[in-house]
Amino acid sequence: MGADKAINPYRYSITKDAVFTNASVVSAHPLASMVGAAMMKQGGNAFDAMIATQLTLAVVYPGAGNLGGGGFLIARKADGELLSIDYREKAPGKASRDMYLDKDGNAQTNLSQNGHLSSGVPGTVAGLFATLPYAKLDFKILIQPAIDLAEFGYTITASEASSFNADREDFIKYNTKPLAFVKQEPWKAGDTLVQKELAETLKRIRDNGAKGFYEGETADLIVAEMQRGKGLVSLDDLKNYDAKKRAPLSFNYKGYDIVSFPPPSSGGILLEQMLKMIRRYPVESYGFQSPKTVQLMTEVERRAYADRAEFMGDPDFWKVPVKTLTSDNYLAGRMKDYVPGKAGKSDAIKAGIIKESEETTHISIMDSKGNMVAVTTTLNNHYGSKTVVGGAGFLLNDEMDDFSIKPGVPNMYGAVGGEANAIAPAKRMLSSMTPTLVLKAGKPYIVLGTPGGTTIPTSVFQTIVNIVDFKMNADDAVNKPKFHHQWLPDQIYTEDKFPEETAKALEKMGYKIEGRVNIGRTEVIRMLNNKLESAADKRGDDSVAGF
Ligand code: DON
Repeated sequence: MGADKAINPYRYSITKDAVFTNASVVSAHPLASMVGAAMMKQGGNAFDAMIATQLTLAVVYPGAGNLGGGGFLIARKADGELLSIDYREKAPGKASRDMYLDKDGNAQTNLSQNGHLSSGVPGTVAGLFATLPYAKLDFKILIQPAIDLAEFGYTITASEASSFNADREDFIKYNTKPLAFVKQEPWKAGDTLVQKELAETLKRIRDNGAKGFYEGETADLIVAEMQRGKGLVSLDDLKNYDAKKRAPLSFNYKGYDIVSFPPPSSGGILLEQMLKMIRRYPVESYGFQSPKTVQLMTEVERRAYADRAEFMGDPDFWKVPVKTLTSDNYLAGRMKDYVPGKAGKSDAIKAGIIKESEETTHISIMDSKGNMVAVTTTLNNHYGSKTVVGGAGFLLNDEMDDFSIKPGVPNMYGAVGGEANAIAPAKRMLSSMTPTLVLKAGKPYIVLGTPGGTTIPTSVFQTIVNIVDFKMNADDAVNKPKFHHQWLPDQIYTEDKFPEETAKALEKMGYKIEGRVNIGRTEVIRMLNNKLESAADKRGDDSVAGF
């Protein structure tokens, strides 16, 4: 296979944690992690690994790895320069504020969540080419493993088989052309998935660069697919799509520098608000997941998410008051009505008053030279719009649902919003994705991130607190049960193994507790004693690779 003959796409295994000396990749699929690590072994850096891993995920992890979606990259170069690249999808030029309302003004979430009309203009391929100047190897080398895996196939895992089977009806419903993901008999672990049309699309990108996707045959196929299903993405939308460099958000938490993603993600602001709100409390002495700690963390989550709904949207269209929202003064004020031992109420805690006007995937990469790359990328939910571009073999996103389609109407993650995140042509929908770096004395320390819709910022928040305050190793920080509060609905979600006594104590304080099977799939690499401690989340097929 392209990069490395040692990678066998028909026989591979999952590695959950390992310590490497030179380079490490943690992603949602073993083949994608192995391809990324192989690029670094043959002289590439963390940026080469990012490009090769993301392209491989588009083939081996079609539920979220993608060409038809978008994402965010946050990175530190070996020379210390910080970088963020926004390749979030944009609303098509013909999109309009009320496009998902029926004639009586009712929100039609079936249209924002499935099928052709739910797709924004894809950003992933533009994001890869915006990253390429930082890489060392030829793009043709970086894309070849993905082409080979699509053309000659790879063995699918048990969880991939069961998700293909679970989504079979939807694939049939939202597509008119035959699909690689649909076959007569049910999929099972060990079956081979071959994606010939996807291989041809990848070859057009290999031969023509970003134009191999945004113009020419691929663009024509996307627009023809849109016309089949009354979608809006046009040739002009594709040609005009641009990935954008943003200024990363940086702040200090207990001596560590945290670097995360600014709007159009809400993730970096939420993370900064939550960490700054708890940093005045000695959580370490309260104990890991004690009622006192979980209550405090829940209350800061509640307050941060209330602000998300009111103030956050695409900064090219809406002035997001980042400075105020993250200022110590403002955040101290937000915690004034916090009462230890007593549940807050979301109908009492609204957004602050200020004067200024389940599927995504994460890749963590670090090398010993000091390059760090965190990428979170998505089609929105699993298999996105469930619509494959006929003849081109890749799924389109259903990211339009991340807009506030009507003020107060929750999106599929229960997030509400208003004017700041209303639909407008070429606007980017608000995200929760939180690819994050942590530096210690200016030196690389942690790369992390996760999927999980609105639970993303809380998972990143809790993983950082687990390491910094509770001194956990990467594996525990990732795999200990998580909890989540997002202001509305007013309840705490807890994972299966969340301590029962804590849940009972919280109920006594007045909290409503709701169980949830999994929260996030967090990928962590930590530089510890000059070694790369790497942990892949046990909640999925996630796997580490390195050397
Ligand atoms: O950008 C966002 O916030 C969402 N589209 C992410 C979706 C997601 O994480 C789904 N994963 N489970």
